[in-house]
Amino acid sequence: MNLHELVEQARAVRIRSHAPYSGFKVGAALETVGGGIITGCNVENASYGLTICAERVAVVKAISEGETKFTRIVIVTDTEVPTPPCGACRQILWEFAGDIEIVLANLTEVKATYRLADLLPLPFDGRILGKN
Ligand code: THU
Repeated sequence: MNLHELVEQARAVRIRSHAPYSGFKVGAALETVGGGIITGCNVENASYGLTICAERVAVVKAISEGETKFTRIVIVTDTEVPTPPCGACRQILWEFAGDIEIVLANLTEVKATYRLADLLPLPFDGRILGKN
């Protein structure tokens, strides 16, 4: 899948964001190794702490659909300074996607690209539990 298509899908799903409390709409598009795309938007709740970020929605959708190998994720917000994934999303992405590419974009351009290992140094994961 080309990056342009991935970014467009993240922009499109962002419109479905349920963010009446923060007003901060986020879209994510997770690419599978097979070139498929699984999208997610943030879903807020009146009980604020139950809010789910766009990235985690994409990951849990993917796992539930039987997708287990990923190459990159695009995160889109309507901001000049791009939005990096929060700490919780970094941890979840590490669990299911490992050291993928993280592409940050807004409504008009791609702003930055990182590796997850650089955003989550010294991760806590299954290796520490002796599980892999
Ligand atoms: N949010 C995401 O969906 N992803 C991020 O990477 C950062 C934060 C959401 C959570 C909440 O709905 C809103 O943005 C404001 O924090």
